[in-house]
Amino acid sequence: MLTFHTPLDLVRERLPELPVACVRPERVSIAATWFRGNFPGEVLYAVKANPSPWALDAMYATGLRWFDVASEEEIKLVASRYPDAKMAFMHPVKSRKAIERSYFEHGVRVFSLDCEAELEKIVAATQRADDLTLVVRLAVNNADAMYALSNKFGASAENAPALLRKARGFADNLGVSFHVGSQCMNPSAYRDAIELASQIIREAGVILDVVDVGGGFPSAYPGMTPPDLELYVKVIKEAFEEMPVAMNAQLWCEPGRALVAESSSILARVELVKDGALHINDGSYGNLFDAAHCKWPFPVKAHRPDGEFEGELQGFKLYGPTCDSMDTMEGPFVLPTDIREGDYIEIGMLGAYGVAMQTRFNGFGETETVGVRDLPWTSMYGPLVVEKPARRVSRKAPRRLKVMR
Ligand SMILES: Cc1ncc(COP(=O)(O)O)c(C=O)c1O
Repeated sequence: MLTFHTPLDLVRERLPELPVACVRPERVSIAATWFRGNFPGEVLYAVKANPSPWALDAMYATGLRWFDVASEEEIKLVASRYPDAKMAFMHPVKSRKAIERSYFEHGVRVFSLDCEAELEKIVAATQRADDLTLVVRLAVNNADAMYALSNKFGASAENAPALLRKARGFADNLGVSFHVGSQCMNPSAYRDAIELASQIIREAGVILDVVDVGGGFPSAYPGMTPPDLELYVKVIKEAFEEMPVAMNAQLWCEPGRALVAESSSILARVELVKDGALHINDGSYGNLFDAAHCKWPFPVKAHRPDGEFEGELQGFKLYGPTCDSMDTMEGPFVLPTDIREGDYIEIGMLGAYGVAMQTRFNGFGETETVGVRDLPWTSMYGPLVVEKPARRVSRKAPRRLKVMR
């Protein structure tokens, strides 16, 4: 991968025409190593958060072998890169053909479900296989999450016991899973969910082999400073120890965001400044879905290819490149007052659900990927330490910008 020391070096050397994903594989390694070292169970990477090959490779290089996949495309992607990968098909609604091919062609043995109809599909499509791990997804409270995921999936506390009993009859291993919602700001949400799962298991009277606490582990965005990840792990470990499950039951987690969020930023070019707003070449149909639709306060920096910013700072609204008026990132994004056409904006903390959400609407969306060696905005994995670059690709000295944080 073409790599620059900093995004500013890239701007000054290349004047990129397309939006650029500035990626830091090292940050993925740090996050995956932390989870594998601290989570008291198996860590599955939720591929949907960022399926980029560089991110998967960084994860795999740490020894991570389990992947939470949601579709056949994700299965094919993981299988094509890592013959020894293990995959859990954790989408609670799958087509029969997808189940069949994943089982018979790709060796998938773990399937999630949240209703009897899906159980019937899995059993039929695998020809009543006797080596299935069936994971019943439970509906749990998402009130502590910044991005709730509770509306669509999950068996209710009322329906789950019967479903677990039924699934037990077809499962070599039986599990429960839940998702407390993405960017969960309170570790006790996991304890509450585990306690609810325990009640349901007791009521079902089944032996449980797997407890999957899902994703939801947070990253640090401006204005959203979560408790330390150590606390999440502690709460989960303590609550798991109290669960009425088999002595050798396994504990799993499926983080997406927390493994990749801080690894990438997006560099977009300013195409026009008009009426206090910046029109840029990336937007809600590109890499900025969450900035537009969830109004998340992603951090920004301005980069000028040929000089320095002199103005004060002010808040700007950003418009994406498509003709759709929903392609708007309200912000406000605090940037230099004198920002102008041809300058670049770097939007940080977009490694999760950034490039993964991109479309080609209106003919836009193509994004280059370039490695950078600078540090992310913030980190959940200890203090950020500036390292000396081994070798600079850029020959031009980056000039200091007044507005850089
Ligand atoms: C089943 C499942 N597992 C894991 C994740 C990853 O969640 P997060 O990115 O919040 O860690 C998701 C996200 O949608 C999910 O649906």
